[in-house]
Amino acid sequence: MASTILFQNPFRPGAGHMPPYLAGRENEKKEFLRLISQETILENMVLTGLRGVGKTVLLDTFKPDAIAHRWLWAGTDLSESASISEENLAIRLLTDLSVITSNTMVSQREILEIGFSSSQKIVEKNLGFNFLISLYQKTPGLVLDKLKFILEFVWTKLKSQNINGIIFAYDEAQNLSDQASKNQYPLGVLLDTFQSIQKKDIPFMLVLTGLPTLFPKLVDSRTFAERMFRVVFLKRLNNKDSKNAIIKPISSKCPVNFTTESVNVIIKHSGGYPYFIQFICREAYDAFLPKIAAGENPAVPLQEIIRKLDTDFFAGRWSRATDRQRELLLVIAKIENAGGEFSVQDIVELSKQTIQKPFSSSHVNQMLNSLCLAGLIYKNRFGKYSFAVPLLGQFILRQNKTY
Ligand SMILES: Nc1ncnc2c1ncn2[C@@H]1O[C@H](COP(=O)(O)OP(=O)(O)O)[C@@H](O)[C@H]1O
Ligand SMILES: [Mg+2]
Repeated sequence: MASTILFQNPFRPGAGHMPPYLAGRENEKKEFLRLISQETILENMVLTGLRGVGKTVLLDTFKPDAIAHRWLWAGTDLSESASISEENLAIRLLTDLSVITSNTMVSQREILEIGFSSSQKIVEKNLGFNFLISLYQKTPGLVLDKLKFILEFVWTKLKSQNINGIIFAYDEAQNLSDQASKNQYPLGVLLDTFQSIQKKDIPFMLVLTGLPTLFPKLVDSRTFAERMFRVVFLKRLNNKDSKNAIIKPISSKCPVNFTTESVNVIIKHSGGYPYFIQFICREAYDAFLPKIAAGENPAVPLQEIIRKLDTDFFAGRWSRATDRQRELLLVIAKIENAGGEFSVQDIVELSKQTIQKPFSSSHVNQMLNSLCLAGLIYKNRFGKYSFAVPLLGQFILRQNKTY
């Protein structure tokens, strides 16, 4: 009994929370290892997929691998970077870079060589942020010229240190946007910078993580992005990996044990999506604990868990949609392939059959655009659409039933 109280619930539903057992993803890890074995960086990585599929935690597991292979790791989460300017992007890169370069010393001679006048009192001699930013400000030209110069300079200082290169890892990179109206092209600058230094054989590699809108955005900004990135699309876990994600965390010494039947119920209702696996398992664990302690043989309280999932996860997103948008989303949820890809035509057709005021195709186009902006739908590079939130279709059908 004491152990049932002491054993904490191991499951971790939450953005970026490392799961108790990271299931599957062997191919993706292999792909990352292949990319960091490149001598000249020809391919960078885009790690993409729906929300909750496990991009952030996988990126976190790449870091120790990279370090073990003598790469330095710089980067950050760009969630807050909705309207970053070119200048801010540069400062972002210098900030991240300075964390790993701040212990590297620059000699007096080098400082003079790169144009700091001798009358200037030079206090800083390590490659910390202050040094990088003043070098940035002194360097003539556009943001791109300045960045290229600094990255090249930094590499001349680092290359003797027995490292293979630097990885610049940016999570939620779909937030970067070029803004023609403001004449700000941070994404373009980022891509131009890395393409240019990689051509000079400097081993600085980009690993960008983000929603499925990310890669089309990169290609929109610079067509060469198509060739510059290896796109790894994270999908739901297969049955075997889902099962491991469910049972591995509780296999040893744990009071709670899921029967094969419970495991199958969890796999089915999570759809193999990692966030939902963690969510359902966490709830089921809490529900099981007292029952097992009382000698009962519990089953997963599915209805309650799904109701909680609807409130905790889906309801916020749903409440932001207008009535007419909800009507459209309901039509979409009824399309046979709603969990996969669908077209404007699919929606128009089904709306004719199912609702009184059907949608015209121009109307559907327009509404899909605003649903894309709201993060409920996304459009892939081939003009097809999908739900941007896993299992959203099923949630919508559940809502419809309760009306
Ligand atoms: N391979 C995996 N096995 C088990 N759980 C996972 C796995 N990948 C992610 N998770 C869990 O799924 C949730 C979402 O992961 P996260 O990395 O935040 O997704 P994303 O960044 O794609 O939105 C977290 O609770 C995490 O613990
Ligand atoms: Mg994430």
